[in-house]
Amino acid sequence: MSIKISDNIKIGSWTRVVVLTGAGISAESGLRTFRDGDGLWENHRVEDVATPEGFMRDPELVWRFYRERYSHALKASPNPAHFALAEMERKLGDNFQIITQNVDGLHRRAGNKNVYEMHGRLDKCFCQSCGSSYEMAVVNLAVSLPHCPQCSGILRPDVVWFGEIPYYLDVIEKLIQKCNLFIVIGTSGVVYPAAGFVMAAKYNGAKTIGINLEKPRNAEHFTFFYEGKSGELLPSLVRHWLEFSAVDETR
Ligand code: OAD
Repeated sequence: MSIKISDNIKIGSWTRVVVLTGAGISAESGLRTFRDGDGLWENHRVEDVATPEGFMRDPELVWRFYRERYSHALKASPNPAHFALAEMERKLGDNFQIITQNVDGLHRRAGNKNVYEMHGRLDKCFCQSCGSSYEMAVVNLAVSLPHCPQCSGILRPDVVWFGEIPYYLDVIEKLIQKCNLFIVIGTSGVVYPAAGFVMAAKYNGAKTIGINLEKPRNAEHFTFFYEGKSGELLPSLVRHWLEFSAVDETR
């Protein structure tokens, strides 16, 4: 696919790249986003399935929701956008880091190692009583409410709910301070703190690039913006960014 590339970014050994991703990057893998038409929040109330209070009220309902999402994520495969980011990490090593709001594990399955899953992981759960952590693969998901094999406490999915503090915020803050190129892919820019990262990166002097099906809420903070599907845009963009250039645009 040929796309119109409007940025002058060339990534070199001086470039420290941080990417923030959201549900949109996994849409072409067949996973539903949250806020698009027929998104997950169209059919479920956030208060019911994505808050600690909802879990206290009806843990079985919450488990049904996450069991289904876990099963969809297992069946999904990374798409060309995930693989393009894996290629970037292969070329840039530790100068390339991903912060993701996604819990589907597709960045890791595409081959990325430098991934901070700030909203947790669908393939893990932990005990509310003793804190023991389990791979979902070893938990008996046939029961409506899984319990801890060690202390019989109630297990909960290892995802961050509204009202809880996302993971890795201390590391993320440092990554944002140190990066000079910040790329945001497939996120509506409405959920904080992630929605504020692009502004922080910009004020720290980084160039910022957005790639999204439509303009996100925080679009004014992007130096360059590409409108369209990330699986179609990203492979060409990554090839363009990684072509070595003597012009140091991101320093
Ligand atoms: P949203 O559903 O809010 O936004 C997804 C964004 O991706 C939208 O702006 C779409 O236009 C865009 N999009 C859809 N398909 C795309 C494609 N093929 N290529 C590029 N962009 C595409 O999802 P998030 O922003 O990730 O939190 O949501 C953020 C957080 O809100 C989630 O992590 C979740 C949710 O409530 C928790 O559950 C705590």
